[in-house]
Amino acid sequence: TNFLPGPVLLLGAPGVGKGTQAKRLMAEFGIPQISTGDLLRENIAKGTELGKAARSLMDQGQLVSDDLVNQMVADRLAQPDVARGYILDGFPRTINQAEWVDREIASKAQTLPIVAISIVVSYDQLLHRITGRRISPAGRIYNVYSNPPVVSGICDVDGSVLVQRSDDSEVVFTERMKTFEAQTAPVVEHYRRQGRFEEVNGDQAVEQVTVEITAALKRLRQKGPKS
Ligand code: AP5
Repeated sequence: TNFLPGPVLLLGAPGVGKGTQAKRLMAEFGIPQISTGDLLRENIAKGTELGKAARSLMDQGQLVSDDLVNQMVADRLAQPDVARGYILDGFPRTINQAEWVDREIASKAQTLPIVAISIVVSYDQLLHRITGRRISPAGRIYNVYSNPPVVSGICDVDGSVLVQRSDDSEVVFTERMKTFEAQTAPVVEHYRRQGRFEEVNGDQAVEQVTVEITAALKRLRQKGPKS
């Protein structure tokens, strides 16, 4: 991994493994993961105004408003740790957000062009993953089927009690998938058309998915400066 990742967009439906892969890329490249879902859940946990506005939308599988989410990302990108690159996980999710990203990030002349990776997994597998997911309060991701903790229900790292996300029921998952198809699938097509885009099969072992994303990033970075 002797190349600078720069700004990376991780796109994909609920449960494709964006968070799992972003955490692994963060460790591999030493760049931060910026997950809008995690940032919103932090706001809910702290009881901020943003959290209050977001909570019921998230529990219905709807998106939080573009203005609120864009501002949250802008605030995060103002921190100094993004200089060598960063992974945007779960953002942009609407064409409106994508246009904001293209404007904001492209306008920063010193940054490398944006590259986008779309992770793809079948619907049935996604449902299985979502209903099996458990998370720690610190945001570590487990799965009762594919990645269980050593002691059932307990985080391996800090001993905290694992919980199920309130939007990880089958009913809310169905709504999240509808939202993805209607609002985020066009974002995937937007970046596919722009080039600097690769699709990765997410229905493989976690380690293999990381290998393929890293190889794709390297190819995309070797494409040279954007005309
Ligand atoms: P968000 O938190 O972003 O949820 P999501 O996009 O639905 O994605 P998930 O977190 O469910 O899945 P993931 O792809 O990260 O998968 P994971 O790695 O955990 O958003 C939640 C809500 O916030 C939205 O519905 C919306 O309301 C709001 N929101 C967020 N961003 C927004 C935005 N930009 N604009 C507006 N609103 C926004 O993996 C899933 C499970 O599978 C885990 O259990 C994991 O262990 C397992 N797993 C992972 N990889 C594998 C593998 N290769 N094999 C087997 N199991 C695997």
